[in-house]
Amino acid sequence: LTAAKPASTPFTFKEIERGSDGTHHVPDGYKADVLLRWGDPIFKDAPDFNPLAQNSNSQSQQFGYNNDFIGFVSMADDRGLLCVNHEYSSTRNMFPAAQRIKKDKARIKTEIASQGTSIVEINRVNNRWQVKRDSALNRRITGDTPMNISGPAAGHARMKTPADPSGRRVLGTLGNCAGGITPWGTYLTAEENIDGYFGGKLDKAHAEADNHARMGVPDGRQDWHYADDRFNVSIAPNEANRFGWIVEIDPLDPNSTPKKRTALGRFKHEGAESVLAPDGRVVVYMGDDQRGDYLYKFVSRDPYNPARPDPDLLDHGTLHVARFNESGVDWLALTHGQGPLTAENGFNSQADVMISTRLAADALGATSMDRPEDVQPHPGNGRVYVMLTNNKNRSDANDAPLRTAVNAANPRADNVFGHIIEIIEPEGDFAATRSEWEFLVKCGNPNDPAFGALWNPATSKNGWFSAPDNCAVDPRGGLWIATDGNPKSGAVDGLWALETEGLGRGTGRAFFRAPIGAEVCGPRFTPDGRALFLSVQHPGEDDDTTYETPLTRWPDFDPGLPPRPSVVVIYRDDNAVIGV
Ligand code: FEO
Ligand code: CA
Ligand code: CA
Ligand code: CA
Repeated sequence: LTAAKPASTPFTFKEIERGSDGTHHVPDGYKADVLLRWGDPIFKDAPDFNPLAQNSNSQSQQFGYNNDFIGFVSMADDRGLLCVNHEYSSTRNMFPAAQRIKKDKARIKTEIASQGTSIVEINRVNNRWQVKRDSALNRRITGDTPMNISGPAAGHARMKTPADPSGRRVLGTLGNCAGGITPWGTYLTAEENIDGYFGGKLDKAHAEADNHARMGVPDGRQDWHYADDRFNVSIAPNEANRFGWIVEIDPLDPNSTPKKRTALGRFKHEGAESVLAPDGRVVVYMGDDQRGDYLYKFVSRDPYNPARPDPDLLDHGTLHVARFNESGVDWLALTHGQGPLTAENGFNSQADVMISTRLAADALGATSMDRPEDVQPHPGNGRVYVMLTNNKNRSDANDAPLRTAVNAANPRADNVFGHIIEIIEPEGDFAATRSEWEFLVKCGNPNDPAFGALWNPATSKNGWFSAPDNCAVDPRGGLWIATDGNPKSGAVDGLWALETEGLGRGTGRAFFRAPIGAEVCGPRFTPDGRALFLSVQHPGEDDDTTYETPLTRWPDFDPGLPPRPSVVVIYRDDNAVIGV
């Protein structure tokens, strides 16, 4: 695995202006094409999108809703697979009023089919990527697709349900936020906000009550428990234990069964970007995206052997959680039998530690963070970039409870703008259990002292942002940050380049502006750096919009069509490498 050294040539594109309107914007000399929209058919005989008559059958043959993570698996110079997450469905924005019936089974089944992931072959023809609709590799994985459970929690009593007495077979993946592509070319998809899918009531004395409460289960906001008993915790109290994992998918084999890798822990997984340590072990960095929750890294037991790859490498290894102080980061092992993770404290096996990862990390004294989103290792400089999106509940009161008081790595009370931490792994050893760290930026407006922001003074009025969420390292080593919540700073969400090296370190530069209401996710470059894929999620939506009242009808601008979450692909007009 090779990786570019950190970018020594600064970014040179002409910044776009701050602002807000109904469409997207790229710098002069660039162009953005819409590649895949919610509802686009991705199989030869799939039905066309009809927003007034969607059903689970049509939706399961079309690109899903609310695209988030984007992976690119290269098959040849001009041929690759896009691996795209569909994070969540939204009844009020997806369906016209007549179909927004609270307990309607058919509508809920359509939503289940709109989630999960899409795998779509794309080909480059005349310097432009296009969807190969009849590719045999195209695949939809939904909230109902059968998958296996593997690793330490597989088959455990807490994983068994009325529908699955084996505890090894589950239907679907949900809440798929970010993810990663492994060094062996598989697709990791992260199950994040799974609490909303589970409703019903659980007795406080029930054995799962504490752990479910720590995950926010049952929340019930999606109403799915009215349509399918497995989402009702009163009937299937263990079903929620089968969500909140990292799922590994082999995108090159459309008949393969996805696997939930329980060795990587169970929490509200934002993403799962991986890198090889110098000794060949794989290291997966993961955030738990909730206010006050933690940062994790998994280190495989065995090295990755490209000559004879172990398909189940991710079933064995050690999950660690981060404890920060002023001088460094300690990575604490979540291993049964060590420290407090014993039967006296309710952890009877490694399965218990993994199913109740948050409780185990609480017991170890992990550092509560300002909502860890994407975590990106940079193989070229041995550093790791941690997006801490915001945390309005952070307090500077000395007597605040442990998980809400400010700390060295999360120093701002009422941190509505977020910050980015750079972890320095000793001599590039990503498997290390002691690391150093620094702030890269503290987000918000550098010209207003009230923000408490920290940027390189070279950052222009367009170059600062807030609420970092997803990030990417381009093939020449440059860092890019996508936001979800920048409107709190008075402008729409977008994508920024961010210098990490030399005198320019900490300088932001605005590259892409989303249409109003959208967040930007999934930045992903092709290996040649000449195309950049972005997810535009929930365009035209705010807390009050419905199908009938969107803020924009991007990207079709057709009065008969709702706005559609879409993947865009960006090129330079001269088809050269993006960013420089
Ligand atoms: Fe789904 Fe953490 O954003
Ligand atoms: Ca999102
Ligand atoms: Ca995210
Ligand atoms: Ca987010």
